[in-house]
Amino acid sequence: MATQTALRLTGRDSWEQLAELQEPRPTAGKHEVLIKVRGVALNFRDIAISTSKYPFQVKDQVIPGSDAAGDIVTVGEGVTGFKAGDKVVVSFDQATQYGPIKTWENGLGGPIDGVLREYISVPAHTVVKIPENSTLSYAQWASVVCTGVTAWNSLFGVVAIKPGQSVLFQGTGGVSITGLILAKAAGAKTIITSSSDEKLRRVKEKYGVDYTINYKRTPNWAAEVQKITNGQGVDYILENGGSGTIKQSIEAIAYGGVISVIGFLAAASQEEMPDVATLALSKCAIVRGIMIGSKQQLEDAVRFIGSKNLELPVEKTFKFTRDEVVKAYAYLASGQHVGKVCIDL
Ligand SMILES: NC(=O)c1ccc[n+]([C@@H]2O[C@H](COP(=O)([O-])OP(=O)(O)OC[C@H]3O[C@@H](n4cnc5c(N)ncnc54)[C@H](OP(=O)(O)O)[C@@H]3O)[C@@H](O)[C@H]2O)c1
Repeated sequence: MATQTALRLTGRDSWEQLAELQEPRPTAGKHEVLIKVRGVALNFRDIAISTSKYPFQVKDQVIPGSDAAGDIVTVGEGVTGFKAGDKVVVSFDQATQYGPIKTWENGLGGPIDGVLREYISVPAHTVVKIPENSTLSYAQWASVVCTGVTAWNSLFGVVAIKPGQSVLFQGTGGVSITGLILAKAAGAKTIITSSSDEKLRRVKEKYGVDYTINYKRTPNWAAEVQKITNGQGVDYILENGGSGTIKQSIEAIAYGGVISVIGFLAAASQEEMPDVATLALSKCAIVRGIMIGSKQQLEDAVRFIGSKNLELPVEKTFKFTRDEVVKAYAYLASGQHVGKVCIDL
C-alpha cells in the first residue's frame, strides 16, 4: 500500500506536539480529485488551534493547515473539467460554494483534517485551477485560500471598492499585506498601521503603501487617518484587532464606510468595551463580520490575482519536516513576519 507523510497535532498545548506519521496515501473517490500538495500557507488560526485558543470545534489528532496549492495526480469517477497535472488550490470551507459560510464545521485543518500532508483527496467541486501561465509559486497560491479570500471578501464582498477610494489595514500580517496588494491593484489609496517603524519602512519600500501609522506611538490613530483623508475618513477598514480597536476604526471610517471585522488580536476589557451599535449608527457605517469566503470568492480572487500576476507576500518558507514546520509555527507566532509564512513540499 502506498504511504504518505502527514503531520498531526497529538495535543493542543503547543505546536511542539506536532508529530510526523506515515499513513496510507488517500485515493480519489467518486467525484474527488487526488492532489499532491506542493505549497501550504500558515495562518494565525493554526497557532490558535495548536494552543487551544481557537474558539471553534477542532477534531482530535487533527492534520492542521487549511491552505494548500498543488498538482492533481488522479481524478475519480465522474469528475469532469480536471485532469492529472492541473495546478490547483483547494477551498477553505468544503461545503460553501457561494454565499456566506454557514458554520465553522467544514474548514480544513480544524473540525476536519487539513493539508499538512503530502496528498489530499477532496471533492472536485471544492477545487479551483491556477492559471496555467502563472509565475507565482505554490506557496503564493496557497496564500490565496484563507488570507486572500478574506481580503477579497472584505474589499469586494458586500459593496465593491471603487478606484480612488481609501482603505486602512491594521498590522502587517498576512491579511493586511495581501489586502494591500489587492487594493492597490484595484486603484485604491492605502493606509497601514503597525507596532513597528521598521516594518512600516519595509511595507512602504516593498509594497508601496501610501501612508503609514505606528499604532503604538499614535494610539489615537483615527485622528491621524482623519488628517490623511482631509477629514473625510477612510472608506474601508480591514479590522484585525477586534473589540480593542473597533472604536478607533469607527472614528476613522468615512460616513457610510465599510468595516470588515476579521480578527481578534486585541480584545477590550469588559470595562472598556465600546458601544459598537451607537458608534456604527453615528457613522451610518457597515460593520460586517467576515468568515473567510466561498469557493466562488476563491475563484474570483484567483482570477484577479492571476490576471495581474500579483506577487502575493510570502515572506519566508520552511521545508516539510516535523522540525521545520515547528520552526515555521514559532516564527509566525513570534510576529517578526510581514506577510505570509509558508511550507514548501
Ligand atoms: N474572520 C476570518 O475569516 C479570518 C480570516 C483570516 C484571519 N483572521 C484573523 O485575522 C487576524 C489577522 O490574521 P493574519 O493571518 O493576518 O495574522 P498574522 O499574519 O499573524 O498578523 C498579525 C499582525 O497583526 C498585527 N496586530 C497585532 N495586534 C494588533 C493591534 N492591536 N492592532 C493592530 N494590529 C495588530 C501585528 O502587526 P504589527 O507587528 O505590524 O503590529 C501582527 O503581526 C487574526 O486574528 C486571524 O485569526 C480571520
